[in-house]
Amino acid sequence: MKISEITDYDQQQVEELWGRCVSPRVTSDGHDHIVAVQRLSSSSILVGKKNGDVIAGVMVGFDGQRGWIYDVCVDKTFRRQGFGRATVSATEAWLRQRGAPSIHLQMHFTNLAAIGFYDKLGYRFQDMVVLGKHFGTTPRLSSVWERSKNVIENGDEPVWANSI
Ligand SMILES: CC(C)(COP(=O)(O)OP(=O)(O)OC[C@H]1O[C@@H](n2cnc3c(N)ncnc32)[C@H](O)[C@@H]1OP(=O)(O)O)[C@@H](O)C(=O)NCCC(=O)NCCS
Repeated sequence: MKISEITDYDQQQVEELWGRCVSPRVTSDGHDHIVAVQRLSSSSILVGKKNGDVIAGVMVGFDGQRGWIYDVCVDKTFRRQGFGRATVSATEAWLRQRGAPSIHLQMHFTNLAAIGFYDKLGYRFQDMVVLGKHFGTTPRLSSVWERSKNVIENGDEPVWANSI
């Protein structure tokens, strides 16, 4: 697999790849999002190609203090062959070249497969809570809060610790 920065020619295939990685849903919002990321100098999309076809994709950004990795995806038929590891490694290199001292990511807490993957790559729980606000109405995340409270107050194991 050859990894390089996205070109306009790759846009369609990258959009389709992320469209197939919908479970659990990745955060890319399709064509407009891809074009917006391409235009920013502090972010990029890296694509992995085999025989000219896009089989892996990832979004990367540097906010000046931390590097961020988003939406790594390897096409289903190519998984468990080291392409995910290679894609993340290229992302880390992209950030190091720009002086980023660290790399971070967020994912849905039920995505145990991806947590297992990142654990193998040396990524560790950062002991932080992600808060957000949508500019519309969303339900409160009471079940997540209850679980976090049990970890903090009762010393329960985080859900993923024994599941991988
Ligand atoms: C997560 C994903 C990128 C992994 O890609 P991959 O090409 O299969 O990963 P690799 O073959 O490079 O595996 C690297 C290591 O992770 C491990 N690994 C891969 N998938 C795993 C899983 N589901 N559970 C546990 N470990 C896993 C591999 O065993 C390997 O470990 P090893 O080097 O000790 O053998 C791929 O499954 C995927 O695209 N998933 C859907 C999208 C997604 O959830 N993205 C992440 C959140 S944004």
